[in-house]
Amino acid sequence: MALFDKFESARSLREQLRAGGHDPTQVVIDEIISPTEGMVEGRHTILAGTNNYLGLTFDPACVDAARHAIETQGTGTTGSRMANGSFSTHAALERDLADFYGVPFGMVFSTGYAANLGTLVAILGPGDAVLLDADAHASLYDGCQMSGADIYRFRHNDVASLEKRLQRLGDRARDCLIITEGLYSVLGDCAPLPEIVALKKQYGALLLVDEAHSLGVYGDHGCGVAEAQGVMHDVDFFVGTFSKSLGAMGGFCVSPHEELELVRYVSRPFIFTASSSPSVIASTHEALRQLKARPDLRDTLWRNARRLHSGLASRGFEIGPEVSPVVAVRLGAKDVALPFWNRLLEYGVYTNLMVPPASPDKHSYIRCSVSAAHSEQQVDTILERFTLAREIP
Ligand SMILES: Cc1ncc(COP(=O)(O)O)c(C=O)c1O
Repeated sequence: MALFDKFESARSLREQLRAGGHDPTQVVIDEIISPTEGMVEGRHTILAGTNNYLGLTFDPACVDAARHAIETQGTGTTGSRMANGSFSTHAALERDLADFYGVPFGMVFSTGYAANLGTLVAILGPGDAVLLDADAHASLYDGCQMSGADIYRFRHNDVASLEKRLQRLGDRARDCLIITEGLYSVLGDCAPLPEIVALKKQYGALLLVDEAHSLGVYGDHGCGVAEAQGVMHDVDFFVGTFSKSLGAMGGFCVSPHEELELVRYVSRPFIFTASSSPSVIASTHEALRQLKARPDLRDTLWRNARRLHSGLASRGFEIGPEVSPVVAVRLGAKDVALPFWNRLLEYGVYTNLMVPPASPDKHSYIRCSVSAAHSEQQVDTILERFTLAREIP
């Protein structure tokens, strides 16, 4: 097989996606007007497919913090923290993130993807066993695979399936790592963490929870689903990202275990990449302050989530029962979902198309995510356009 022959399947996928009009993987937003609006192909478009849950990307304090950091620390760090030194602001953010989760140790990575890879390759190694939710994000799966550990997937959010895997591990269960997310990003459902924690304790396992989509969204303080479900103290590793509620880019891991400090010495995705630029660290840190100081943002987000969820349900769209800022509309086959997604874009609503194998089951979905920055009127417009896209094919 010639080197480039392997691109044939990608070429054919691209053709299929383009056949619907727009390629959902290549949408260009020519102008960003606000956290919830942009211009796409000259059309004013409501952004209903971002992960900008708290709408902080244009927050004046975050923008000022980023601008000040560029002016005082420059545009980039130009190297990795291990080889080229950390800026004090990286360390300060690590301390504040750890404090926020009520644990002593914290580490910042250059992306959320790197946070998962970097944490997992350090914790796990060949001969270890890891139990991974079947719908876990690619970065969790990739980290497990890169570590060389034995991966056992349990059915999504299925505690009985997890227990079966633990039983089968026998003595190895005592030292295995269970991995779950807080809020799952495609279907918008939450992990049953108290039941998972009970199993973790019963079998003596460790637990890692990825709160990428739940930071700033769930819990009295916005820590995530573990906080909302009252099991914060039973989690061994929290990972998360700066690219969603915090409106920037980067990732973190915090933990009560001192070994997290040693991850710095052995984690290739941490060591062999440049550290986040000062402006990114500064806006993230300010966004974390906003997240803590402004619970009203969460209230608005949830009001919008309920409005979108109930609006879609009352219009007869098939959505999951759980209300969350992620609402996935099930459309069945890909050849129904793709034109539907295209019509929404033409009607000025940008959403995310999820088709197999990227969707968690055999179905195709249109995923919407709401933001605290959406107005009620924008949510109502999204609902109207969904109805229009169904009625006027
Ligand atoms: C659950 C989960 N973990 C990790 C990541 C990776 O984060 P980032 O995109 O910030 O690298 C994502 C991104 O979508 C995610 O959904």
